Amino acid sequence: MSDEIKNPEIQPNLILDDEKAMLLNHNYDGIQELDNPLPKWWQIIFYGTIVFTVLYIGYYEFGGGPSLRQEMESDLARIEAMRPKNAGGDLLAAVQSALGDAAVIAEGQASYAGKCASCHADQGQGLIGPNLTDYHWIHGDGSAGEIYKVVADGVADKGMPPWGAVIPADEMKSLLVYLLSLRGQMRAGKPPEGVEHKPN
Ligand code: HEC
Repeated sequence: MSDEIKNPEIQPNLILDDEKAMLLNHNYDGIQELDNPLPKWWQIIFYGTIVFTVLYIGYYEFGGGPSLRQEMESDLARIEAMRPKNAGGDLLAAVQSALGDAAVIAEGQASYAGKCASCHADQGQGLIGPNLTDYHWIHGDGSAGEIYKVVADGVADKGMPPWGAVIPADEMKSLLVYLLSLRGQMRAGKPPEGVEHKPN
């Protein structure tokens, strides 16, 4: 026992073969040290986090990177820009100038098929919601502005969802052009509801 302490030689039987290369050249009372580095992948991740921190702080604190508030505000501005402005403004002018345009009608029809047909039926002839192909309207007079109002705001207590915040302006335009093209087609379906408003 005491012999081992006085003569702290490397004890070959305690060292694995693949550790021999790692053995450092010192020996404290029989305690030897291996130079056993962390795995490469671990080091890459570790030093990577340090590099990331420097870049991150540099960009967001000193390099003029946007704050969370600025990011939120620019996101909100983008969403706001996608919304139809209002029933009286740009949207209705765009609808007016696209009336009867077959490509726009086709776009509107695709949007209608995805969002409206479940309640107003595939041809607009009415199912849960009223027939949209007659001249009778429960809400408004069937003008583009009045149709937009009911589509955008919905009819909460009758089950018509509000679409104003859901449908981007461009899609809303083609949807309205499509709805106006349905008006007066008189497709057989739900009987007319509301008040008749025939355009002069
Ligand atoms: C969940 C069912 C449902 C969906 C989906 C739906 N609607 Fe309606 N819609 C209704 C109901 C119900 C009414 C009738 C409201 C009332 O009686 O006041 C209605 C009314 C309307 C009216 C007014 C009709 C009138 O006579 O005044 C329009 C226009 C209309 N919907 C268009 C749309 C469009 C466009 C879409 C798709 C973007 C759509 N709806 C999707 C159920 C729905």
